[in-house]
Amino acid sequence: MIIDTDPGHDDAIALLLALASPSELEVRAITTVAGNVPLSKTTYNALRVRELAGAPHIPVYRGCGRPLVNELVTAEYVHGESGIDGPELPEPSRGAEQIHAVDYLIETLRTTPEPITLCILGPMTNIAAALTQAPEISAGIGEAVMMSGSFHAGGNVTPAAEFNVFVDPHATDVVLSSGVPLVMMPLDVTHQAQATRPRVEAIHAIDTPVGRATTEMLRFVERYYVGRGGFEGFPLHDPTVIAYLIDPSLFDVRPGRFSVDLAAGETHGSTGAEWHLDDANGRAALGIDVDAYFELIAERLAAL
Ligand code: BDR
Ligand code: CA
Repeated sequence: MIIDTDPGHDDAIALLLALASPSELEVRAITTVAGNVPLSKTTYNALRVRELAGAPHIPVYRGCGRPLVNELVTAEYVHGESGIDGPELPEPSRGAEQIHAVDYLIETLRTTPEPITLCILGPMTNIAAALTQAPEISAGIGEAVMMSGSFHAGGNVTPAAEFNVFVDPHATDVVLSSGVPLVMMPLDVTHQAQATRPRVEAIHAIDTPVGRATTEMLRFVERYYVGRGGFEGFPLHDPTVIAYLIDPSLFDVRPGRFSVDLAAGETHGSTGAEWHLDDANGRAALGIDVDAYFELIAERLAAL
C-alpha cells in the first residue's frame, strides 16, 4: 500500500500503526501533501515519523503544495506550528526522494502487476492530480481507503464540512467520480474514537520512545477538544484507515453513493450520502468498536 498524508498528529500515529503491522500491511511508500500545515512541514514530519518508527528505508515522496482550485487552508490551531507540536521527534537520517509524488503514483500504479491499496489521510490533491493526468492508473488501485467527509456528524472546520474534504473539495470530487473502489472513514466514525485519558494512559504505559512520543502527541492535541462539544479526548481520525486494513471487522461499513458540495457558500466542501441506491460509488464506516481500536493501537505501538 501507499500512504498519502499531511502529518499532523493523527497522521503520525496512523503511520506508526501501519509501520508496526508488517504481517498484514506492506507499506511501499509515503506521499506527502499540504493540509494540516504547509507541504515543507508535512514532508519533514513524515521523515521524522519514519525515523521514529525505525523505517528510514521507506521512501517519502513530496507532493502537491496547494489544492487544485482553492487556496490552502491549514490547521495550526489544532496541530501547532510544526504540525506535530508536543513530542521531540528524531531528526531524519535521510531526505525525501527527488521524484514528485504525483509522478511516483502514476508510474507505480500504471506498472504494478498487482493492485495497490491507497490510504488517504489528508486532502486528496495528489491522488486527484494523478488520476487526472493518467486516468488509466485507476486499474492499478485495489481500493482507496480514506479519512474523509461527514454524513450525520456535522463538520470540524465549518459547521458542514470535514477538514480533508474542505481543503480540496475539487480533488475529492475527482476521486469520488473515478470508479476506484472507495472506503470512507468519516467524522461519524472518527468522532466516536476519542483518545480519553485512560486510553492515553494505556499508550503511556508502553514506555518506549514510540509510546512516549505518541503520548505527548495525544496530550498536546487534546487541548483543542476536551471540554468542548462533549469531547473527552482527541478524536483519533486517521489511524481508523489503517485499523480498517488490519481488521475490517472493527467497523460497521455500508455501501452508498457519496458526493461533495462544490458550490460557493456555507456548505462548500460538505459531503452527502444516499444509502439506498443500487449505484453505490463506495462504502463508508458509520460504526466502530472503539475499545478494540485503541487496544490494537496500543498493542502494535508496543511492538515498534
Ligand atoms: C482530518 O483533518 C486533519 O486535521 C486530520 O489529520 C484528519 O486527517 C480530520 O478531519
Ligand atoms: Ca490527516
